[in-house]
Amino acid sequence: MYFTLTEEQIAVRDAARDFARMELLPGVIERDRHMKFPTEQVKKMGELGFLGMMVSPDYGGGGMDTISYVLAMEEISKVDNSCSVIMSVNNSLVCWGLEKMGTEEQKMKYLPKLTSGEWLGCFCLSEPEAGSDATSQKTTAVDCGDHYLLNGTKNWITNGGSSSLHLVMAQADPLAGSRGICTFIVEASWPGVTIGAKEDKLGIRSSDTHTIMYNDVKVPKENLLSSKGDGFKFAMKTLTGGRIGIASQALGIAAGAYELSLNYSQERKTFGKPISSHQAIAFKLADMATEVEAARLMVHRAAWMKDQGLDFSVAASMAKVFASEVAMKHSIEAVQIHGGYGYVKEYHVERLMRDAKITQIYEGTSEVQRIVISRAILQGQLYQPMWIE
Ligand code: CAA
Repeated sequence: MYFTLTEEQIAVRDAARDFARMELLPGVIERDRHMKFPTEQVKKMGELGFLGMMVSPDYGGGGMDTISYVLAMEEISKVDNSCSVIMSVNNSLVCWGLEKMGTEEQKMKYLPKLTSGEWLGCFCLSEPEAGSDATSQKTTAVDCGDHYLLNGTKNWITNGGSSSLHLVMAQADPLAGSRGICTFIVEASWPGVTIGAKEDKLGIRSSDTHTIMYNDVKVPKENLLSSKGDGFKFAMKTLTGGRIGIASQALGIAAGAYELSLNYSQERKTFGKPISSHQAIAFKLADMATEVEAARLMVHRAAWMKDQGLDFSVAASMAKVFASEVAMKHSIEAVQIHGGYGYVKEYHVERLMRDAKITQIYEGTSEVQRIVISRAILQGQLYQPMWIE
C-alpha cells in the first residue's frame, strides 16, 4: 500500500493551487455576490486542461488519472466552488460519460469541443418530480423513425445556461420502467430547447443553475448515447464517478475552511495570546485536521479504485457522504473560529459554509448515498465479517 503521490500528480496539484490563488481568488467574492458566471475563468480552465482531465489525448483530453483530477478539484474548491462544480460536471458527468459510452463519431464530434472549453456540457437527469427517485422520468422520447421527439422539463441543471451540449435522460418506453430510459446528446441550439431563469441560490452562486424545457425537440437517431433502454444504467454509472468529483469538492471546502482557520487563529490575539494557543481553538483545529485527512484518504481511495478498474460505487458513496458532512461541520466551525469576522464576506469562510450545503444534496443526497451503502452491506458486498457466517 502506497500513500505517496507521483511527480506528475504533484505537478497537477500545484498547477491547480497556483491557478486558484492567482486567477480565482481575485474576484471570487464579487462573482458570488452578483451571481456572475465566471466566463473568463472557465476559458482559462479550458486552456490549462482542467475541463477534460481524464479524457484520452485522442479526443483533446489530458489523459490523466482520477487521482490527478481529485487533487485539482480539491485545490480549486478551497477557493471557488462555482468553478469547481462547472469543472466537475464537465469532467465527470459529461466527458466521462461520452468517452465511455459514445460511438467513435460522437466522441470525435463532441469531445474536443468539451475538453478545450469551447463548449460546456450539462447532465439533465433531475426533474420537478424525479430528484432522488430518478427512475420516475416524465420527460418522454418518442421513436419517430429517423429521429426521437423529446418533450419534458429538467430542473436544477448545473451549467444549464452556459452549456452547448446536454446529456438528457428521457423515458422511451414507460412500460419498461427504468429499462425504458434512454440518454440523448442534445445540442442547446436546436429548436425546442428553452432555458429557464437562473436560480438564485444559497451557495455556488456564480455557477449557472437552470430549469430547461424540451418542447418537440427532434433528436437524430445517431445522437442516442449507448443503446436503447440503457439510459438509467448510463446515468447511474456516470453519477458514481461524479460522486468522487463532488466528494473532492467537499474535501476542498473542508480543507479550505481548515487552512483559513489555522491562519486566522495564529494572527488573532485575545487575552494576550494568539487564539490558537487557547485549548478551545487548538482542539477545534486538531479535529478539523484529523477529519480533513480522513476525508482525503477516502476520496483518494475511491479515485484509486476507479483507476484500477475495481467496483468503486460504495467507496464513492462513502467518500461523498463523509466528505460532505466534514465540509458542512468544519465550515461552520471555521465561521465560529473567525467570530464576527467569519460572518462577513471578506474572510471567505461564510462562503465556504454556504457552498458546503450543496455537497450534501447534488449528485445524490446523503440519504441516497446511504441507500447505496446499506444495500451493499445487506447484500454482503462489503467485506466478509468475522462474526457472521
Ligand atoms: N451502475 C449500473 N447500474 C445501476 C447502478 C449503478 N451504479 N445503480 C443501479 N443500477 C441499475 C440496477 O441494477 C437496476 O437495473 P435492472 O433493472 O437491470 O436490475 C436499475 O439500474 C434500477 O436500479 P434500482 O432498482 O437500484 O433503482 P432505484 O429506483 O431503487 O434507485 C437510487 C436507486 C440509488 C436511489 C438512484 O435512483 C439514485 O442514485 N438516485 C439519485 C439520483 C441522483 O444522484 N441525481 C443527481 C442528479 S445529477 C446532479 O446533481 C448533477 C449536478 O447538477 C451537479
